[in-house]
Amino acid sequence: MNYLIWLALLTSDHLIAGGLWESPDSIERNQREILGLLTSDCPPGYELSQQNTCKFFHQYQTYPSILDRGIGGTRTGLPSFRDGFSPALIDLGRHLFFDPILSPNQTISCSSCHDPDHGFADPGAHSIGISRQPLDRNAPSLWNLGFLNRFNWDGSAVTLETQILGPLYNPQEMGNTKENLVHRLNTSEAYRFLFAKVYEKDPDRFEISEKHIITALTAFQSTLISLNSRYDRYVHGHHESLSTEEIRGLNVFRSFVARCSECHTPPLFTNQQMAVIGAPERKGLTFDHGAELVFGSKRLKGGFKVPTLRNITKTAPYMHSGGFQDLSEVLAFYNEGRAAKEGRGLYLHWHITSPDLAKSELADLKSFLNALEDESFKPKRPNITISKLILNNERRGVTKQ
Ligand code: HEC
Ligand code: HEC
Repeated sequence: MNYLIWLALLTSDHLIAGGLWESPDSIERNQREILGLLTSDCPPGYELSQQNTCKFFHQYQTYPSILDRGIGGTRTGLPSFRDGFSPALIDLGRHLFFDPILSPNQTISCSSCHDPDHGFADPGAHSIGISRQPLDRNAPSLWNLGFLNRFNWDGSAVTLETQILGPLYNPQEMGNTKENLVHRLNTSEAYRFLFAKVYEKDPDRFEISEKHIITALTAFQSTLISLNSRYDRYVHGHHESLSTEEIRGLNVFRSFVARCSECHTPPLFTNQQMAVIGAPERKGLTFDHGAELVFGSKRLKGGFKVPTLRNITKTAPYMHSGGFQDLSEVLAFYNEGRAAKEGRGLYLHWHITSPDLAKSELADLKSFLNALEDESFKPKRPNITISKLILNNERRGVTKQ
């Protein structure tokens, strides 16, 4: 908090150059500076269209469709993708993502639980929300969200827009209300001004709506793309990008013994299905029924969405409950044999087997997972919080004359 107050003082000194008796010039300068916080460039990996929208391009899109869901073919295409947002809207979403203004007491931002330095996941097994009560599930990574068709561990949301309602209003997460959220954002002159500019409307008459907020967050989140790891370079033909150990690991990953790629299918390293693999809960937690409740199917009792493995080295602890501290624990879990996971009334997925991998194979597999690291498109944390900026409104009339 101290940091924010300090920032507010710093930026307001900086931006309200003339104090109360500002000249029209200084107000204009103030507005220009605030507007200058939003970029007019698309994020890396995108091209700006003539309609001022960002269009995503990637080499994977030139490969055939993923629909056959093979056992780990590497040159497979990508599913359809959310793009077409303007550069300024995406950037406004970035500011919102990091701004605690979204929570009622202004203490929690999306980035509190989805930390960019931890693969946009939470390094704590259970995130702490507004009520200070630990959540039961671990906050998942947000990389490559724009390609997904189901969100949350249990697949309970089908669009990014509906997913966002969860963290915003769930009393355990940010615990806000729609009325308060919209009201708070509208009391920030700087946000009102910026939203109006993004939507090319008159700032004096503009009201920020819930939809505006959600669309900006969606626009930003869909740009979190990680498809340029050493593994990807290997796929595109640069064989020297992976070490011999990593290539051996890739082969274990794709093998019909380990079967990882049946579910963690390249290039997203998820087939976007729900699967019951029998990962245990953390100590002290009651059984999480997961997808069973969402899909109304007993066969999905204890089932969860197959998560991506992109940047998996960054997102510990692992699984819906954050029960595994590191990747060696995860691999030991998969290797320990099917029998060890049975007997709890679960319908384990048939690809969960007893692979009995040798120590050296497990080591190779782990090295391979390292090759999925790519944060080259990681967005920057904003230096200033827009909600703390003061856009002197009182004399805006003067500016307009
Ligand atoms: C208090 C911690 C916390 C905060 C704050 C939070 N999240 Fe989350 N987020 C979680 C947890 C936990 C889950 C998993 C929920 C589940 O599976 O039931 C999650 C899931 C998600 C997912 C689904 C990802 C996937 O791959 O399925 C998205 C997207 C997301 N959050 C975005 C956001 C946005 C945007 C904000 C800010 C408006 C936000 N979160 C704020 C903890 C948090
Ligand atoms: C039947 C489908 C299936 C197979 C096969 C499979 N997984 Fe998974 N994997 C999942 C599901 C579902 C989860 C999430 C389970 C949970 O949270 O309880 C998961 C979670 C993980 C996680 C933790 C991800 C995170 O963000 O916390 C890792 C790492 C992982 N799997 C690696 C592997 C490896 C390596 C193999 C091969 C040995 C493998 N998986 C085989 C479905 C599968």
